[in-house]
Amino acid sequence: MSPPSATILGLETSCDETAAAIGRGPDQIASGVVYSQHDVHARFSGVVPELAARRHMETIEVVVAEAMRKAGITWPDLHAVAVTRGPGLAGALLVGVCFGKALAYALRIPLIGVNHLEGHLASAWIDEPDFPTPCVGLVVSGGHTHLYLVAAPGMYQLIGKTLDDAAGEAFDKAATMLGLGFPGGPAIDRVARPGNPQAIRFPRPYLKQGSLDFSFSGLKTALLYFLRDQASAKQPKSVADIAASYQEAVVDVLVEKAFRAVRRYRVGSLSVVGGVSANSRLREALVSRARSAGIRLALPPTIYCTDNAVMIAAAAQQAYARGEFASWDLETDTELPLPVNVFPQAQKHRAMVAGRR
Ligand code: KG4
Ligand code: ZN
Repeated sequence: MSPPSATILGLETSCDETAAAIGRGPDQIASGVVYSQHDVHARFSGVVPELAARRHMETIEVVVAEAMRKAGITWPDLHAVAVTRGPGLAGALLVGVCFGKALAYALRIPLIGVNHLEGHLASAWIDEPDFPTPCVGLVVSGGHTHLYLVAAPGMYQLIGKTLDDAAGEAFDKAATMLGLGFPGGPAIDRVARPGNPQAIRFPRPYLKQGSLDFSFSGLKTALLYFLRDQASAKQPKSVADIAASYQEAVVDVLVEKAFRAVRRYRVGSLSVVGGVSANSRLREALVSRARSAGIRLALPPTIYCTDNAVMIAAAAQQAYARGEFASWDLETDTELPLPVNVFPQAQKHRAMVAGRR
């Protein structure tokens, strides 16, 4: 990563975390504050978009003030304001974008619109600024399970994605079925620890041979049927065993596909980012596989896996260095894709696949 240095306020409000951070260069964090709304949404077993937007409105000013205070800076010290403009929940995104726009306008400094997925991918370099590219980047969160070939920060090629549920969604829905509460990922992670991951053989949806896509909806259905049958079983399995076995199925698929992509595109490094990359069993499995395959692995510290604004400020450093500033009519986009930058390795692979058909 090139070493530009600007003091940037990052804002993140795409889902149920109100976050602000001050970045002073690609890998220098002056502060990071996250206000989580989990208590607001827990009784609904999922994020309620309208409530999320309202809570962002109530808290964003305080969260920004706290990030500024922790960094020990005042408004004139800022060079730019960066804000997540998508993908995410419409009302939630709007709060951050309106706040960021107003602040940048008042301070007469540039505004930078950041793609949330690019923020997650940028989190790989926060602790490891020398992490090499090209690499494969796996984004595993509540809304995405996407595999990218990353030529360099800012240059991405989508090479695989989920055809239905995201991995985080698979954890959240399973946790609801098991009565473990919301958010489900951390609950399953915790409950699974003393469990036996081999107790139940849940399906591993690898899809057609060589596919880099994912599908988790069948696994969720398998759990539903298992729980229905288990209601009349003489010796029911413990929640710990069920959670550990279910988690193992998700982890097996994620690890297998990530390393399949690494082999296919002949790269020497892999980054795994997004909320699910905080999962302790997934981290363990990735570290062990990377070691045996001789692959350099970037796994951000868990505080930078789940939604935060440090990653938004980090991604914005690249945009700042490239002079990519937004105009005052910057809009939110709930489905915002990462810009497609086709580069030779991906083109070659696509030609190979086309030739095989
Ligand atoms: O990246 P993130 O904070 O928000 C989105 O962009 O979606 O990811 C949230 C997702 C949720 O589905 C949550 O259950 C999952 O990440 N998650 C985990 C863990 N911590 C968060 N999943 C499994 N194990 C964890 N420890
Ligand atoms: Zn996210």
